[in-house]
Amino acid sequence: MNKIPFGPTYEEMLERDRIDPKIKGRALKAREDELDSMNLFNITWKDEENNVMKVVLPGELTGIDANIVVMLGKYFPSGSHKVGPAYSTLIEGCVDGTILPGEHTILGPSTGNFGIGVSYICNLMGYDSIVIMPDNMSKERYDRIKRYGAKLDLTPGTESDVILTLQRTYELMKEPKNRSLAQFELLPNYRFHRYVTGNSAIEAVKGIGNGRIACFACAPGSAGTIAAGDEIKNAFPEAKVAALEPYECSTLTNGGRGQHRIEGIGDKMCTLIHNVLNTDFVVLIHDDDSVKGLKVIHDGADILAESGIPMETALYLKDKFGVSGICNIIGSIKMAKFLRLGPGDNVVTVATDGFDRYDSVIEDLDRRSLETEDFVLRRWKRDIFDKADMEDIFDFRRPEKKQHLFDQKEKDWLPFGYTKEYMDSMKHQDFWDNEYNKIKHYDEMILKMR
Ligand SMILES: Cc1ncc(COP(=O)(O)O)c(C=O)c1O
Repeated sequence: MNKIPFGPTYEEMLERDRIDPKIKGRALKAREDELDSMNLFNITWKDEENNVMKVVLPGELTGIDANIVVMLGKYFPSGSHKVGPAYSTLIEGCVDGTILPGEHTILGPSTGNFGIGVSYICNLMGYDSIVIMPDNMSKERYDRIKRYGAKLDLTPGTESDVILTLQRTYELMKEPKNRSLAQFELLPNYRFHRYVTGNSAIEAVKGIGNGRIACFACAPGSAGTIAAGDEIKNAFPEAKVAALEPYECSTLTNGGRGQHRIEGIGDKMCTLIHNVLNTDFVVLIHDDDSVKGLKVIHDGADILAESGIPMETALYLKDKFGVSGICNIIGSIKMAKFLRLGPGDNVVTVATDGFDRYDSVIEDLDRRSLETEDFVLRRWKRDIFDKADMEDIFDFRRPEKKQHLFDQKEKDWLPFGYTKEYMDSMKHQDFWDNEYNKIKHYDEMILKMR
C-alpha cells in the first residue's frame, strides 16, 4: 500500500481530542512556525481546549435580542478556514491514488483564500502548486501565495470573473502532470464543511441562549461553507439556512451578474457542490455596506464604545473579520429580524478570514470616501448595523424557486462537460448523504496509509 503525506482525518479535524496526544503536542508547538508541517493538525475550528473559536456579538452592535455567534476562521493555519477544503481535497486525491507526490503539480482555481490554502498545504505536503485567480483581488492575497511558494497564473477581472479562472484551469488540466483541487466541483469541500464546520457550529451554541441554532446565515463562494447547514438541520430541524449574496451580483436571486467588492463570495454562478435543497432563503447584501461596516469595526472602537460596548470588546473585535464576515453579520441581523428571533435564539455565521488581508481595501475606501471622520463612522454604524432591515430577503423553499437554482446550476456546469444525468442526481438529498457518508472510508484510509 502506498504511503500518503501525514495529515489529519476528518474526525481529527473536528475533535482535537481524537489526535494522539504526542502529535497534538507537536501540532500546538508548530504554531510558532507556520511552515512546520505539523500545522496540518491545526486545521480545525477548535482551540487548545477543544472549544470552537467564536465570538458572540454584543447586542449594542447588532441592535437585536437574538445572539449572533460568529465562528472565527482567521485562526486556521494560513489565516482562513479555506485551508480545510484545500487539505481535504488533496488528501482524498492522495488516498484515491490520483495525486502522487513528486509527480503531480496541484492547481488551485480561486479568488484568494482557497489559493492561499492550496499554496500553503502544498508547501507543507511537498507539492508544486499553481494558483489561478483574477488579477484584481486584494494585494495581500498575492503576497501570501508567493510567500508560500506557489506560482500565480492570473486571469483578468475580480471576484465575479471566477468563470475565467475555471476556463483557464480546464486548459491547464490538459497537461497530464496537473491535478486540480476544483473547489467549485469536488465533494471534499462539501464533506469538510458539512462534517467539520457543521458539527463545530452545533457545538458552538452550547451554553448560549437556548443552545439551538435557529438560522445559519452564510455567503457562498464555492458554497462549501453553506454545507454546514445540512448537518445543522439534522441536529435542529427547525433551523433555516440563508445564502447571502451581493446586491450587485444577484445570481442566485435572479441570475444577476455584476462586479462587486465582497471578495470570496458572489462568483456569478450556482456552484456544482451547492446543495440548494437546503437553502431556504437568499438575501442580498450591499457590497459597500460590508466594506464600510468593516471600517467601522476596525477603525471605530471609540464609536462602538459610545454605543455601550466595553472598550476591551471593541478592541477585541477589531481584527476578527474580513469583508465577507461583515456581509455575514449584516445578513444574520436581517434574518434574525425577519424570523422574529428573540433573546434565547441563536443565529450562527462564519468569518472566513480576519482583517489581515484587507488593509488595501480599507485604504481604497478611504480614498473613495470624501470623509471618514468619527461622525461618518457613527452614521455608518447606525445605518449598516442598527438599521439593517428586512428588504431583499427571498424565500427559496418553494419547488419553483428550487427549480430556478437547478436551472442556474445547469446553465453554469453543462458547458464544463457535466451530464444532465449527474446534475439530476443532485436534486435528491440521497446524493448528498451518500457523498457525506464517504467520510468514514476516507478516515479509515488516511489512518491506514499514513
Ligand atoms: C473571504 C471569503 N469569504 C467567503 C468565502 C466563501 O466560502 P465558500 O467558498 O466556502 O462558500 C470565501 C471563499 O473563498 C472567502 O475567501
